Amino acid sequence: MTTAKIRQMKVNGEKIAMLTSYDFTLASLVDEAGIDMLLVGDSASNVVCGNLYTLPITVDEMIFLTKGVVRAARHALVVCDMPFGSYQVSEEEAVRNAIKILKESGCDAVKIEGGEEIVPAIRHMIRVGVPVMGHLGLTPQSVNQFGGYGLRAKEEAEADKLLHDAKLLDEAGCFAITLEKIPAALAEKVTKAVSCPVIGIGAGNGTDGQVLVLHDMLGLNQGFKPKFLRHFASLGDEIKTAVGNYIEAVKDSSFPSAEESY
Ligand code: KIV
Repeated sequence: MTTAKIRQMKVNGEKIAMLTSYDFTLASLVDEAGIDMLLVGDSASNVVCGNLYTLPITVDEMIFLTKGVVRAARHALVVCDMPFGSYQVSEEEAVRNAIKILKESGCDAVKIEGGEEIVPAIRHMIRVGVPVMGHLGLTPQSVNQFGGYGLRAKEEAEADKLLHDAKLLDEAGCFAITLEKIPAALAEKVTKAVSCPVIGIGAGNGTDGQVLVLHDMLGLNQGFKPKFLRHFASLGDEIKTAVGNYIEAVKDSSFPSAEESY
């Protein structure tokens, strides 16, 4: 998979399926199932590291996780999130970190949160050969500014700004844009207004594709059930049952059996 093919999928009217992944084993399964794009999201900060926010994860931690996903990806395009603090300070630092992520992790592209304010950095990254995916709407790295994870761009002014930002990201050369947790009608309007594919999460069905956090959609993260999330499996329950059965078998000495011994 290439960024050019992802763009072509929009032209062909073919929906794009994206999921997060953070390790070799699960990424191998997701890739074998035929996913178009694997996102090593900075949601790893929550899902893998147990932090409340995405803010603490570092560039080196993202690179460590992305290397495993890249080794697993036979088909999918691998996108790595640029973590908080790695692109906000200056254009030069943003480009240096984007190059570091691409070089050291082996990923195909980076994702970066924000609109107009980061367009110069995005232009520079693309100019030096780093494919970039934008991210607008609910941008979790700005949680302290937003004061929570609520629906974004409900009001006209914020919706207008989001549409404006999306057009700028498109013009700057982003190969795709993620729209997170915004009204479906606005997401559809943005999707029609830009030439690059728009991938939604909590943004309705009018986008060019969808992305979900793998652990959420597999039912591994049992406490988290926002309206936009569908559980496609209940692996959390299955794991607990399997582990319970294992504990019982160890305690009653039925595991390992003679056949399971050398
Ligand atoms: O970090 C992440 O997992 C993301 C998705 C929610 C789009 O950015």
